[in-house]
Amino acid sequence: MLCEKYIKISKSLNYSPHVRFLAFQSYLTSPYLFRQLNSQSLCFDNRIVADIGTGIGILPYLLKDKNAEKIIGIDTDKELLNTANSLTEDKNLYFICANGFNIPVKDSVFDIIFIRYVLQHINLSGDFLIEVKRVMKDDGILVIIDIDDELNLFYPDLPKSSKNLFKIYSEYQKLKGGDRFISRKLPSFLATNGFRDIEAKPYTTTFFKEKDNGFNFSGVSNAFLLIQNELELVKNDLFNERLIGVVEFHKGLNDYFNFLNSTDDLFVSKTEFVITGKK
Ligand SMILES: C[S@@+](CC[C@H](N)C(=O)[O-])C[C@H]1O[C@@H](n2cnc3c(N)ncnc32)[C@H](O)[C@@H]1O
Repeated sequence: MLCEKYIKISKSLNYSPHVRFLAFQSYLTSPYLFRQLNSQSLCFDNRIVADIGTGIGILPYLLKDKNAEKIIGIDTDKELLNTANSLTEDKNLYFICANGFNIPVKDSVFDIIFIRYVLQHINLSGDFLIEVKRVMKDDGILVIIDIDDELNLFYPDLPKSSKNLFKIYSEYQKLKGGDRFISRKLPSFLATNGFRDIEAKPYTTTFFKEKDNGFNFSGVSNAFLLIQNELELVKNDLFNERLIGVVEFHKGLNDYFNFLNSTDDLFVSKTEFVITGKK
């Protein structure tokens, strides 16, 4: 049901490209997220849970039937939160507009805090985790899910132009204070900020497309649409910052489409990490 709502939003021109992209990403990644959440053996009964940088609230929705007392999605973006709110009537889900650097709740409120695909975008100074720790109960659990781009594997190798485009996107994210190689750094970052019992588990998603199977609406084509939507959102910035030219940009994207659509065998694998720590 939920997935249907998300795919509808991703296709509807009533929403901004930003909302549509997150709806599509939420739709595509929800099965993996569901598995990641279930494999953590976390108990949600009567717990107060936060999801910092919740976007349109995919994570709260997946947890809504787990008997948590409250699940609070926090984000700085009102438009995303309005969309999140419009998708639910569940009484234990709340969405609040706030910055993760300054969360408007008293000390020691949350039993479990999630942060998914957020830290790759922000300037990760100690302040963020100090604030996260402040709002966690003693023994509370922090669960971070994020990427490390070096673990994206392709066989055959990506076309040069696409590799260049992705490298430039990564540099752009770095210019904005983010980091697409964040996962490997998080365990020591948590330790430095006083978290304990730190664990990092890799989750790999793999697509294999067999020769002559053509381009269809399978995992591989969705992977193309997702990156296309993501790059479309930032392309004007990339051009304005003179990181890449219009022609190079479209060649990189086009070659990636043809690469995925080729009649050869294709192997694509992407690994992200679930990193946990206790206060
Ligand atoms: C890529 S989205 C991930 C959304 C969601 N966690 C998910 O898994 O679909 C990153 C989100 O983090 C939010 N965000 C970025 N910096 C933030 C901050 N300092 N405090 C709260 N939210 C933030 C953005 O508005 C955006 O919704």
